[in-house]
Amino acid sequence: MVTREALHTPALGRVFETPYAEISAEVAELEGEVPRGLRGTYYVNAPACFARGGQHYRHWLDGDGMVCALTLGSTIHVTSRYVRTHKRVIEEQTGAFVFRTFGTAFPGDRLQRGIATASPTNVSVYAFAGRLLASGEQGLPHILDPATLETTGVETFNDAINEITPFSAHAKSDSRTGELVNFGISYSSRAPRLHYFRFESNRSLAVRAIAPLDAPYSVHDFALSDRYAVIHLGPYFLDVERLLHAGTTTIDALEWMPEMGSRLMVLSRDDGRVLAKPQVRCGYALHAIRAFEQDDRLFVDLIEYESPLYPSYQPLSRLYDNVPAGLPVRYVLDTRTWEVEGRYPVPYHSAPDFPATNPADVKGDVWLLGMSAAGEHKPKFFDRLARVGWDDAPGVDEYEPPDGRYLSGEPAVVPDGSGEGAWVVCREFDDETLASWFIILDAYNLSQGPKARLSLEQPLPPGFHSCFLPTTDNLR
Ligand SMILES: [Fe+2]
Repeated sequence: MVTREALHTPALGRVFETPYAEISAEVAELEGEVPRGLRGTYYVNAPACFARGGQHYRHWLDGDGMVCALTLGSTIHVTSRYVRTHKRVIEEQTGAFVFRTFGTAFPGDRLQRGIATASPTNVSVYAFAGRLLASGEQGLPHILDPATLETTGVETFNDAINEITPFSAHAKSDSRTGELVNFGISYSSRAPRLHYFRFESNRSLAVRAIAPLDAPYSVHDFALSDRYAVIHLGPYFLDVERLLHAGTTTIDALEWMPEMGSRLMVLSRDDGRVLAKPQVRCGYALHAIRAFEQDDRLFVDLIEYESPLYPSYQPLSRLYDNVPAGLPVRYVLDTRTWEVEGRYPVPYHSAPDFPATNPADVKGDVWLLGMSAAGEHKPKFFDRLARVGWDDAPGVDEYEPPDGRYLSGEPAVVPDGSGEGAWVVCREFDDETLASWFIILDAYNLSQGPKARLSLEQPLPPGFHSCFLPTTDNLR
């Protein structure tokens, strides 16, 4: 029997050529019922603008960030707005792309202060210390109004960082301590370094530590436990000299050198000291899932790929054409000796990404997006929402959207207050009509399908990372 997966190739050119308009609207139509206790706002950041003045970007990471908000309250409202970055303001005034981006270079393009690509602020959105922040691959977070999504400034943490400080998109805000922890890489060819930051709940900088690296590793994410920060160092290196002096893009200045192997770099969360760098299986980890401690063990869960993912983010019409094999993996480390006790993969081979956990059960199951056509050489996109785990429970709980629809954006898992259940919020789209829906599912019964499907009148771009805030009353 010929399956849909064998036949269907998503029309991604259209998805990424569309000039996405800003939205502020009620949901047009509701199928099913939004669970009564599900109240709050789902925010997701997405690269959204891929063409200007006849120029076209090539890479998914290039597009200007657009943050979308779904607010579930007495009414259901959707808002989307571009982040007003320095890059976007200048390019709107000019009517053309001005700055070189992660995957697109052109004659006369500019770098930020001549030394870095200008951030399109398109990767993540999160709340910290009373502010809603949006971040790009590197660079200062932008402050957004939580209701209108208007950009109101940049976050410097009381002048602790500036626009050229290495500062990643995957800062972790800890609801238990109120802290924010992050890292950044300075890609100097002579002295590559990792910067570690820990901020107090009042936004003041508590710790900035700098650790030398043996090579300029490209690192996107990290994991944080009660006492440790863990960075996966895969052998994917940025030759910054090519970026600065040969006019190349970031993607073309990156090189995968598997012979160099991979390590987990464990830092003290308290002061950023490097505690250990045990070797692990050679692989590339774009996203960590989490880290947690139990007795004398540190558990580090991540999505481990055979090679980097960024090459499969281009060209936009053939996204994920050659996506490498990847699956969720757990490493267990002995915190007395820092030896790796074991590596435990979960056999979910659908090129998973965008992992999420339940804030009420952070050591439990993991939700992620998967591609049914993983392993086939053709353009593809996420068409599965799955729940997997390392416990003994057999099988994978999976949602498969209707024919011709895909899923996008990191799902958000929202506890239902019972102590056991949760909902998942995610987004579904039709690649040909660009029709767009938010979907709400029982987090522990995905295969049953959405409990509610909220239809939008205007399309939204495929998203990257999300957060769900039960209330925004504490934001200003
Ligand atoms: Fe990410």
